[in-house]
Amino acid sequence: MDLKSLIREIPDFPKPGILFRDITTLLRDPEGLRYTIDTLADKCADLGADYVVGMESRGFIFGAPLAYKLGAGFIPVRKPGKLPGPVHAIEYELEYGMDRLEVHQDAFQSGCRILIVDDLIATGGTAQATAKLVQQSGCHLVGFGFIIELRDLKGRERLPEVPIVTLVDY
Ligand code: PRP
Ligand code: ADE
Repeated sequence: MDLKSLIREIPDFPKPGILFRDITTLLRDPEGLRYTIDTLADKCADLGADYVVGMESRGFIFGAPLAYKLGAGFIPVRKPGKLPGPVHAIEYELEYGMDRLEVHQDAFQSGCRILIVDDLIATGGTAQATAKLVQQSGCHLVGFGFIIELRDLKGRERLPEVPIVTLVDY
């Protein structure tokens, strides 16, 4: 399936100079959505993840159905002030600003196998920050899964050396 044809490009969003890769057009296509989750699950199955970690908010959309397909649990990594229990937090840089991510302190049990999933890797800041949260907890990071990779931004160079699964690159 030609996933690129289902991903819309919006110039100058959310800031001038950013070419935004809009996955809402992929999500609303029933076959495109099914193919995306099924293909990501096939490519990640061998990693043996116990948990999928997804980053708010687009990482939730793909991470939860992927966890379901893999027979894994899902752990949300959230924007500040959203999680009710005690959290670990980390600050990171975006392609278009700064942000902070939080995860429940008791979400990661030492030794468990974690797959980090998001819709897109750009500068890699979000994925790198999430990997630090995982690794600081004593969990075993088994890989990353992204629907889209923006190759020019070289985000993968910031990530630890574990398998990186991607479906579409620009
Ligand atoms: C987007 C995207 C990734 C991140 C990638 O999220 O969903 O999480 O940017 O950029 P990076 O590789 O440069 O870190 P955003 O922070 O825009 O939040 P959203 O998912 O709530 O739209
Ligand atoms: N997140 C970071 N950069 C992005 C881009 N160019 N398009 C969509 N989401 C993004």
